[in-house]
Amino acid sequence: MAENTPKPAAGNAPAKPNPAAPGAAKPAAKAAAPGAAKPQAPKAAAPKAAASQAAAPSGVYKPPVDRPDPNPFKDSRMSALGAWFQERFYVIMPILDYLKKKEVPKHRLSFWYYFGGLGLFFFIIQIITGLLLLQYYKPTEAEAFSSFLFIQGEVPFGWLLRQVHAWSANLMIMMLFIHMFSTFFMKSYRKPRELMWVSGFILLVLSLGFGFTGYLLPWNELAFFATQVGTEVPKVAPGGAFMVEILRGGPDVSGETLTRMFSLHVVLLPGLVMLVLAAHLTLVQILGTSAPIGYKEAGLIKGYEKFFPTFLAKDGIGWLIGFALLVYLAVMFPWEVGVKADALASAPVGIKPEWYFWAQFQLLKDFKFEGGELMAIILFTIGGVVWMLVPFIDRQASQEKKSPLFTIFGILVLAFLVVNTYRVYAEYSMLK
Ligand code: HEM
Repeated sequence: MAENTPKPAAGNAPAKPNPAAPGAAKPAAKAAAPGAAKPQAPKAAAPKAAASQAAAPSGVYKPPVDRPDPNPFKDSRMSALGAWFQERFYVIMPILDYLKKKEVPKHRLSFWYYFGGLGLFFFIIQIITGLLLLQYYKPTEAEAFSSFLFIQGEVPFGWLLRQVHAWSANLMIMMLFIHMFSTFFMKSYRKPRELMWVSGFILLVLSLGFGFTGYLLPWNELAFFATQVGTEVPKVAPGGAFMVEILRGGPDVSGETLTRMFSLHVVLLPGLVMLVLAAHLTLVQILGTSAPIGYKEAGLIKGYEKFFPTFLAKDGIGWLIGFALLVYLAVMFPWEVGVKADALASAPVGIKPEWYFWAQFQLLKDFKFEGGELMAIILFTIGGVVWMLVPFIDRQASQEKKSPLFTIFGILVLAFLVVNTYRVYAEYSMLK
């Protein structure tokens, strides 16, 4: 059985309400202290209420006369402000009680639990810096590059904002890859966490979409030609030409493409990410953190720590380290501004996408024979779908049994990504 997986009876759900914050499980009438300001409705009212409902004409709902006390928690010890909120949101108190009991297992691989939180941290940085950049950025062919120069050169600390935004995007994707492979090798996707994996995979795809759409926004030469190459990819697939037109807003990369990328980057993708992220994090809270298969039985669990506040405080330390690294990279290794995009200019040498697309990029380059590109796209799509469905395919892991075949599969996928990424790096660093 997975660690911290709530068991039907003895799980984390608060079986008995905490005296400081009585749970709603207690009937309201019993929760009220003697001498409470509002007398409780007599219990005999219940059958009366049922009778009055039964007497209602069919299809018409009549609310029960015996209402619960509006604040069953009024005897808890807390600040006036806390009590004010509690009176209004008391239905979520059992949820908070549940979360307070959540525990994280401690073992030699616990270190890897911090990367999901780091991905979240860099995503929050992206939202904040992105909103600030939006105050000055102008998403038109004529003004994009100049507004970008204005942010870099004139807006107080604008250069820092832009550098932090660009670096944080890269660090976020890096953290997500580490998070994905660490949860893969710990088989954290196994029953009942299948949807955590699927929602996480969708988040990774959406985050790559953020990177792709954001790349064009400065409207510089490198981004322009890289987007031309990137949006061309679907062309070889059946119906691909239509797809290319949809992506570009026309046959070529133009101001229309910029409008599309901009709206995807600041409206559609953030909205989708927030929705899927809410699902992912809710599942994390409900199902808790798993331990690797067999660890409990082998006595490798050193203990458990409370999620609130211990694990969260450690997460906070990770965030501080992440923040320091981010500012260091932004100040010491600034991203270039480049030159304004010119559709009539010839493409500069060494056009390549962002590093997180290099593996696919290299695959396309390796399949440069007749029909090869289509084959590469099909291979990659099938690979992506299989990867997303791994929790449903790995039956061994769902039965809490080791699944070495899937470990080998994960190593092969990781090796493919690392080797191909390195090949692009090696080839293009020679061109500089
Ligand atoms: C914006 C993207 C993401 C954020 C903010 C995020 C955040 C988190 C957080 C905070 C946790 C709990 C702590 C931890 O185990 O690290 C978690 C757990 C998990 N995540 Fe993600 N995640 C993201 C993307 C992904 C991706 C790409 C995958 C895999 C495809 C994934 C799969 C999982 C799984 C399986 C768990 C459960 C771990 C366990 O119970 O041991 N997540 N995520």
